[in-house]
Amino acid sequence: MADTKIYQASTTAPVNIAVVKYWGKRDPKLNLPTNSSISVTLSQDDLRTHTTASCSSTFASDTLLLNSQSQDTSGARTQACFRELRALRAALEASNSSLPKLSSLPLRIVSENNFPTAAGLASSAAGFAALVRAIANLYELPATPTALSRIARQGSGSACRSLFGGYVAWEMGSKDDGSDSLAVEVAPASHWPTMRALILVVSAEKKGVSSTSGMQITVATSQLFQRRAEIVVPAAMVAMKKAIKEKDFESFGKVTMMESNSFHATCLDTFPPIFYLNDVSKAAIRLVEDINNAAGKIIAAYTFDAGPNAVIYYEEENTAAVAGVIKGALGGLEGWASREIEPKESTSLDARAV
Ligand code: ADP
Ligand code: DP6
Ligand code: CO
Repeated sequence: MADTKIYQASTTAPVNIAVVKYWGKRDPKLNLPTNSSISVTLSQDDLRTHTTASCSSTFASDTLLLNSQSQDTSGARTQACFRELRALRAALEASNSSLPKLSSLPLRIVSENNFPTAAGLASSAAGFAALVRAIANLYELPATPTALSRIARQGSGSACRSLFGGYVAWEMGSKDDGSDSLAVEVAPASHWPTMRALILVVSAEKKGVSSTSGMQITVATSQLFQRRAEIVVPAAMVAMKKAIKEKDFESFGKVTMMESNSFHATCLDTFPPIFYLNDVSKAAIRLVEDINNAAGKIIAAYTFDAGPNAVIYYEEENTAAVAGVIKGALGGLEGWASREIEPKESTSLDARAV
């Protein structure tokens, strides 16, 4: 009798915010970057994607529903993830004939982000990490986070870092096939338990220039870009790993802020220029400067991805001096919302109902 069962698995994946930024692809097809990057994975309680993957012979075709809206699954990125995961499942099925042949069934993906999508808060990172892990769970693949990171990278570069918690590096690798362009843990969240992040949502609107197309125009036109990729970022990678290992907040903060500024300077140097920061973002930068000047040292560090929303890192002991002051100064402004978040280990809530 034909198998008409619906096979299903769910997972969640957290957002990660880069402190050394990925911006530029050396191979757009395989999503291989022009520089390595480092991020901090934020708590899933606040910013996360929840994704359910199912497959069944009763489904007509592959589908993806994001926040209740149907998405195109024919894009090369989504297709690459589906193809790689199906190939791993097919290999399992070939070695064990008692396994149901899930690799040939249409997939149905249903995903929800509990934070703004495409607004510079790394929805593509949490989104593709969750998509890849949900399907890996559905297929019962014995894959490590690093192995899954190679697949998630092809969905969205930053997604490879969301398969780990804590402090994560995406090593750019040097091979043409991308097999060494992977995420690795720098330190678990428990290594630096006093680290905190304040998310300032300036705008939940979809950004004007997506990360994918923005970095493409930068690579093609920016004169600062090459220096950034070859000199600025490699030095920042070394300094950031050292700062994290030594839990040296002043160094962590300085590299984080200079990296964000370097990235946005490169965006401005793109032609036509890309403006991700707005006046409110700039007010947040000044406020962090005032806080650090008042403290006589760096106790707060801002960073902005491809959007106007700020993420401010600080240590727990400085909660009042940083989060308190920022919320007091900006909380009254219309359009601001803030959330305090702890970096967390990456955990997944896996449910399998067959
Ligand atoms: P962001 O700054 O939010 O990462 P990007 O421009 O990098 O913005 O990517 C946004 C795109 O990522 C969305 O338009 C969508 O195609 C994809 N995306 C976001 N969330 C998900 C999700 N949960 N599942 C699948 N794809 C997602
Ligand atoms: C500024 O990973 O969203 O957030 O690989 O094209 O999907 P694609 O781009 P994406 O770019 C993220 C850029 C960034 C910096 C970072 O997260 O490292
Ligand atoms: Co993104």
